[in-house]
Amino acid sequence: MVNNKIKNICCIGAGYVGGPSMAVLAKHCPNIKVNVVDINEERIRLWNCSDLKKLPIYEPNLDEIIGKCRGVNLFFSNNIKECIEQADMIFLSVNTPTKTKGIGAGYASDLKWIEASSRQIAEFARNHTIVVEKSTLPVKTAETIKSILNSSTLIKKNIDLHNINKTFSILSNPEFLAEGSAIKDLENPDRVLIGGEDEESIKKLSKIYENWVESEKIIETNLWSSELSKLVANAFLAQRISSINSISALCEATGANIKEVKKSIGTDRRIGNKFLEAGPGFGGSCFKKDILNLVYLSRFYGLNEVANYWEQIILINSWQQKRISELIIKKLYGTLSEKKLAIFGFSFKANTNDTRESPSISISNHLLDEGARLNIYDPQVSGKQISENLVDKEIDIFMNPLEAAKDVDAIIIMTEWKEFNKLDWDQIFSLMRKPAWIFDTRLCLETDNLRNIGFNIWSVGSNNEN
Ligand code: NAD
Ligand code: UDX
Repeated sequence: MVNNKIKNICCIGAGYVGGPSMAVLAKHCPNIKVNVVDINEERIRLWNCSDLKKLPIYEPNLDEIIGKCRGVNLFFSNNIKECIEQADMIFLSVNTPTKTKGIGAGYASDLKWIEASSRQIAEFARNHTIVVEKSTLPVKTAETIKSILNSSTLIKKNIDLHNINKTFSILSNPEFLAEGSAIKDLENPDRVLIGGEDEESIKKLSKIYENWVESEKIIETNLWSSELSKLVANAFLAQRISSINSISALCEATGANIKEVKKSIGTDRRIGNKFLEAGPGFGGSCFKKDILNLVYLSRFYGLNEVANYWEQIILINSWQQKRISELIIKKLYGTLSEKKLAIFGFSFKANTNDTRESPSISISNHLLDEGARLNIYDPQVSGKQISENLVDKEIDIFMNPLEAAKDVDAIIIMTEWKEFNKLDWDQIFSLMRKPAWIFDTRLCLETDNLRNIGFNIWSVGSNNEN
């Protein structure tokens, strides 16, 4: 029998998407019990930690919502079986990284976590369950999930009575939040996308969102358009970054200035002024993986020109990181051996503690390969996490930027943390070896000031260094 109202939601995966998205849902739907489950015990322990500063992910304003909803209608646990059994609706928010071996290695998404959680649902769900794909998935994954769910119920039907009424409906509801602004994005999304075939299930999910999102913003499509739209949205966003970064190199070569070019093109409403910040290339767990996935899908369908077109975005991204590293080496007299440099910012963007695919990792590695010793400071990323990304490397990790600057030849600004502008740069200058360099890969510092103090400055996208 089909339930009329959703009263109990389970979200499998308590990560950067599952945690914040379910927190916001729980906040706006006090009559729904939301269980967020994960196989990772440590992560769940931290989600349940009474000290809200110790939540496993850092997102502005997340702690406030967790403080209000946790233990009321929002629960974090490792009890996957029980939470699936109770659920009318299950969100899949598990990780879908790029495959590292086998067919499609380096491009295709590894769906093993999707498969494992689908099998858990197949085993433990009761009655009718709406399964919602929240993870970013290759087009046609809903077929795979459907096949797992249906085949398991067939096998079990004869031996387990509760499986007799077991039915599933699958929806695609990709998440568009960006880290660092996750709560803002979830509270006020540009759109909510729901793909599916079963009108009744679509309506039920839509009703949940309508508790805080205007109904005009809820877009309904078929399953495949929804799955594909998520990959395409990320590809288009990343494309803008590679475009502006390619032009930053041309600015440096010609005397044009990327800030001025950005303003000039961004005021054209057809282009728009968002996502035009030149920098050290995009990082994060999504852009590279999702474009690789799009490239793989295009090749799979014999569309090699399409695949090559999108792959270029990733190639430019890696090139930007390589060229910035080479430029730093060149400015520091062509050698980094016996030199100490400071990396300011290790997360892949400001306002998050996530370091996945962070440009800081690749640029640090290039500099370390040249013989540099690195002092690393980030206001939110733990020392443990930095070390795990740079295993067995010549690095020292600091909790204080002033200490990190002591005796270094250069400071490389890798993340646009606001606090970097407020540092005591006079004191930092006095602590550094001379000439004291700042490489601003994010265009986030007020450089006129710093030049007056005596720093040599290089900023991405202009050739105005001393
Ligand atoms: P994450 O790695 O932070 O979290 C995934 C969680 O799923 C992990 O804690 C893992 O332990 C858990 N998990 C895996 N298999 C499980 C299983 N069988 N049972 C229970 N738990 C299981 O990943 P994320 O960043 O939250 O991303 C999740 C998905 O959302 C990915 O497909 C990603 O592409 C997509 N996405 C991410 C973002 C983002 O900004 N991070 C934004 C939009 C979409
Ligand atoms: C991205 C998408 O924005 C989001 O919609 C999707 O759900 C997940 O992937 P995220 O990776 O969290 O979000 O952050 P985003 O703000 O998109 O930044 C990604 C990377 O691009 C960061 O390294 C950021 O610094 C960089 N970036 C972003 C630029 O270099 N320039 C820009 O103009 C914007």
